[in-house]
Order: sequence, then structure tokens, then C-alpha cells
Amino acid sequence: MFKVGVITVSDKGSKGEREDQGGPLIQQIVREKGWEVKASVIIPDEQKMIEQKMIEYADELGIDIIITTGGTGFSIRDVTPEATLAVVERTAPGLAEAMRLESLKVTPMAMLSRAVAGIRGKTIIINLPGSPKGVRECLNVVLPALQHGIEILHGITGECAQQRLDVHGV
Ligand code: MTE
Repeated sequence: MFKVGVITVSDKGSKGEREDQGGPLIQQIVREKGWEVKASVIIPDEQKMIEQKMIEYADELGIDIIITTGGTGFSIRDVTPEATLAVVERTAPGLAEAMRLESLKVTPMAMLSRAVAGIRGKTIIINLPGSPKGVRECLNVVLPALQHGIEILHGITGECAQQRLDVHGV
């Protein structure tokens, strides 16, 4: 069972001025997939705090996937992508590209998310937008490929299970 850490990045949420809907929704979706939510937190849009939490989740808790929600937009306080890029060793641009590609079919606002994804050690880190709608739309795009990504990262498999993953089964 893969271990997931959920980080909600929100100034208002961290002060209790806004209900966090994105974080609980991520937890619900990954639990439905059979994964364990090992830790979750709401923190303000402070780059150093976001970086420290990601490092703690990856290096100390041994979390397989860190999913963030919020702080990916154009506001001057939105720094989740910058925090992510500061702690990952390798980027995984395909995850963010896929999310934006599919999201653009739903809303032109998708291009306003600067979300990134990457790998720190054996941990995958993915940014999602803050709205529950954005969380659901983006997470549904990456979920089908994530398990295989983790398995490759952990050396559980070196083989690409082509038929299992291909949408059209070709
Ligand atoms: N992506 C999807 N799939 N659905 C959405 O509703 N909202 C967009 C975008 N990405 C959205 C989305 C909007 S309105 C913004 S401003 C950016 O994500 C950044 O959101 P954030 O600052 O909450 O991370």
C-alpha cells in the first residue's frame, strides 16, 4: 500500500478563515484507490515552510507521493511550485503537462496554474490547484499512471506493463 502525504497550502486555510476542501478531497480519492494517507497538514503560502514540510514527508516519513493543493497560481503569494522545485532532484514534467492538457479541455483557466511535479529520492511530489474542482480534475488525470511510476521509482518493476496502461489496449 502506497503512503500519501497531503499538503494544503493556503494562508486563509492555515488561519482557519477558509474551510480546506481540497485536502480532504485528495484524501478521499487516494483512499478510494486503496492508498494510505500517512500525513496531512494545512500551511500558509510560505516557501520555506512548504519546503520543510516536503522534506519532512519525503525524508523522515518515507512517503511515496506528496500531493499539494493550492498556491500554484499568479498571486504574489503563490509559491508552491518554487518550493517544489527547490526540493526535488529531478522534475517530472509529464505529470503537470498532462494535467494542464486535460484541464484545458474543461476550462481556459487551467493555463493559470503553474503546477509542477518532480522526484526527491523515492518520493514523487505533485502540485494540484487549490479548488476542489481543480483537485478532482487534475488528480483523475495522473492517478492511472502514478502506481506504475512509483513501482519503477522503487525498483519494484522495470517492465512497462503496456497493455495494462494503454487506454485503447493496443
Ligand atoms: N485546473 C482545473 N482542472 N480546474 C480548475 O478549475 N482552476 C484554475 C487553475 N487550474 C482550475 C485549474 C484557476 S482558476 C487558477 S487561478 C489556477 O489553477 C491556480 O490555482 P491555485 O492558485 O489555487 O493553485
